[in-house]
Amino acid sequence: MDVFCIEGPVRLTGAVTVNGSKNASLPIMAAAILAPGKSVLKGAPRLSDISVFSQLLTDIGCKVTSKPNGDISIDSTSIGKPVGEYDIVRRMRAGICILGPLLARCGRAEVSMPGGCAIGYRPVDIHLKGLGELGAQINLENGYIVADATRGLRGNEIFLGGPFGSTVLGTANVMMAATLAKGTTVIECAACEPEIADLANCLNKMGAKITGIGSPRLTIEGVKELHPFEYEVIPDRIEAGTFMVAAAITKGCLHIHNCRLGDLMAVAALLRSIGVTVEAEGPPLRGEVSPSAEPTADCIVACSGRVRPADITTQPHPGFPTDLQAQFMALLALAEGNSIIIEKIFPDRFMHVAELSRMAADLRKEGSLVSVSGVNKLIAAPVMASDLRASAALVLAAMAAEGTTTINRVYHIDRGYEKIEERLNPVGAKITRESD
Ligand code: EPU
Repeated sequence: MDVFCIEGPVRLTGAVTVNGSKNASLPIMAAAILAPGKSVLKGAPRLSDISVFSQLLTDIGCKVTSKPNGDISIDSTSIGKPVGEYDIVRRMRAGICILGPLLARCGRAEVSMPGGCAIGYRPVDIHLKGLGELGAQINLENGYIVADATRGLRGNEIFLGGPFGSTVLGTANVMMAATLAKGTTVIECAACEPEIADLANCLNKMGAKITGIGSPRLTIEGVKELHPFEYEVIPDRIEAGTFMVAAAITKGCLHIHNCRLGDLMAVAALLRSIGVTVEAEGPPLRGEVSPSAEPTADCIVACSGRVRPADITTQPHPGFPTDLQAQFMALLALAEGNSIIIEKIFPDRFMHVAELSRMAADLRKEGSLVSVSGVNKLIAAPVMASDLRASAALVLAAMAAEGTTTINRVYHIDRGYEKIEERLNPVGAKITRESD
């Protein structure tokens, strides 16, 4: 297992480029199942989660090849077995999003029920309810979701909200299945995340008829067949947001290329409110965009002193994203005053609290709320990465802390950030990867 040694404090200045979105790439890769033939996803990030998903597609019979530039070709001409095996799905929960496409394509699918997760309990009941309302018979057998739609899927009006609002992968699953259902489906309380809009845009390119993209009400007119796609994925808004915090926490200035500021409006507003400069730059990006997103090629984020405190509540898009909660906790730990962070999507997503406290952050957790009393400085310590975004928070804190922090279990960060040390070191970070 690799370890990061990070020397701080540093000041980051220069340019960084955001990669393609992991969370948009995964469901789009699943969409390749819907249309027999060779689809090409362009600009996917080279991450372990993408490799695991490629393994999952290979295991069901697809031929998957990845090019060094990130393009992934998926030949789904023949599906050998419509089964998502436990050994693969347990490594990556997003594996659940092959369920809808397999069901629509093969009339039957078995996918392992995802297991435990470091960020808390993550049920899939709403996915199953939605697919059931499209006419699938669903049972749980030996830890597998067994779905049958041999008589075909039928369009329906489906409410997909749950106790925490909309569901991202649940919307992806039901929307993909509905593209090939007979008749029209209306999904109410659909996820509005840019990754879902990107998937819908890709599905429309394949011949689907989806309207309401980017809104909580999606209308999907079923079609008889879809054709393979060649599609370029959107930039990763969470990676962009992580780079924004990197600029702010190191009191630096980063020119962030390939960043759609329109997908990060809650984040940009929050940063501005605590004294960080966030400016859009450059011509609009090419390609389809969600109606909610004003496309922007670049942005500049700069911060010259300690940030002011803030109160953050995570919410479904366009609210403040849960995937940036940990990173902002690291930033607010150094604010000039007291902040409150409330987690409304994954109430137990606080594994980073104990680790940041080891670095002298002053944090108090009560249920799904953390009060953050800003301190003058963080101090390096040996810490443990526990999940993807928690480990990103530790990297950010380590760059601002005094001394050398060692972060164990770096594989968590490799799941979502491609070679982060090779991208941050050229702008001033001092991160060394040590392999066992
Ligand atoms: N929920 C249910 N029942 C369901 C599905 C979800 O109660 O059937 C609940 C969840 O427990 C949670 C809330 O609804 O409280 C929202 O979960 P959602 O289904 O939206 O999460 P997800 O689709 O499983 C995706 C991202 C996560 C991101 C969340 C929220 C991917 C591969 N994963 O997960 O990304 O945090 O949406 O935005 O797209 C990450 O990248 O680090 C990550 C965890």
